[in-house]
Amino acid sequence: MDHSTRPGAETKPGRPDETLRVLIDTAALHRRVEQLAAQLDRDYAGEKPVLVGLLKGSFVFLADVIRCLTIEYEIDFMSIAGYGNLTEHSGAVRLLKDLSVNISGRSVIIVEDIVDSGLTIDYIRRMLLARQPADLAIMALLNKQTRREVDVPIEYIGFEIEDTFVVGYGLDLAERYRGLDYIATVDIADG
Ligand code: IMP
Repeated sequence: MDHSTRPGAETKPGRPDETLRVLIDTAALHRRVEQLAAQLDRDYAGEKPVLVGLLKGSFVFLADVIRCLTIEYEIDFMSIAGYGNLTEHSGAVRLLKDLSVNISGRSVIIVEDIVDSGLTIDYIRRMLLARQPADLAIMALLNKQTRREVDVPIEYIGFEIEDTFVVGYGLDLAERYRGLDYIATVDIADG
């Protein structure tokens, strides 16, 4: 198995009909995670924000971010499912697991793996704002701005990417590839 992580390198960690190409390598991911954590350290100095990870995709990113933070924080998770096929969102979102923490009066940061149409994050943002947090910000590792269908503010963005399907570092294709320590594009062979 070739697990080379040079940007542009072709890797074959999975099925023969799926060709992966490294888009963001491990070192670049870790550098950016450190920068984002430093930004949170500055912006939330003296506070104890609730970091809300959206399952499943954000768990690797969130785990790396908290290991770089020096401020106090609490973590919680929400689980949602979008209806659609493997790579396209239908627009509908279903809540599978709600928060355990009461966020009323707290500083909240929603942590998402990738924002595509924006429908998921918009739905969650509205739901959490109704619970009257002191403030609410969104942090996304990846952003596909060109795919946006709803305008939603994202305060912390790891990387802007093109309109292409990506996997790795928590992101999946039908549950595959979440454990890769880099982000890769996927080409699926026809037939
Ligand atoms: P949105 O609601 O269209 O913004 O989609 C957000 C969700 O779709 C993310 O949380 C991911 O679960 C999934 N998603 C969107 N693009 C990708 C991708 O390129 N790879 C893996 N999952 C994706």
